[in-house]
Amino acid sequence: MAHYIKNVFIPRDEIDKVVTQLAERISEDYKGKEIVMVGVLKGSFIFLADLVRKIQVPVVLDFMSVSSYYGGTKSSGIVKIIKDMDVDIEDKHVIIVEDIVDSGLTLQHLKELLLTRNPASLRVCAAFDKPGRRKTNIVADYIGMKIPDEFIIGYGLDFDGKYRNLPDVCILAIEGGNE
Ligand code: PRP
Repeated sequence: MAHYIKNVFIPRDEIDKVVTQLAERISEDYKGKEIVMVGVLKGSFIFLADLVRKIQVPVVLDFMSVSSYYGGTKSSGIVKIIKDMDVDIEDKHVIIVEDIVDSGLTLQHLKELLLTRNPASLRVCAAFDKPGRRKTNIVADYIGMKIPDEFIIGYGLDFDGKYRNLPDVCILAIEGGNE
């Protein structure tokens, strides 16, 4: 599909400030506690790496891989676990880390699943939030930035598997429209 990078939407220094603020809030909220941080692959990998290096309390890291869209159709409502986490979260303070909340279906499903494992607490931290696209009541506890409904890439976010490595969040234009 013909596409091009239209412009930088969130420059890297702004992202860094937002991540620093989130890390400060989390460090304050979890003072004296240990956190299990669960990155949802693949999109969260850069955000998670930046975030954990700024957090001042002990962190145990784990990952999950899920697939929420099939055959190019968006938000089918089906969330398939490709890789589950390894750490036992019973009685642990858990934070799910996402790059972006869109429909909220992925997070709703993950929260329901992880709650069955009896964590001491379960919160969600997302770098970016598109509240205009929400199809559930999910609210992330920690949100870096609320953004309008633009197709964004970079800082972990992809188009067709590419552009995750861009240091800035950019807007992608797709020929024939972005939907
Ligand atoms: C993206 C993102 C979230 C999910 C959010 O993942 O990383 O996991 O979609 O969408 P939702 O709120 O509508 O459920 P994607 O399935 O694109 O996989 P990726 O992280 O590997 O890019």
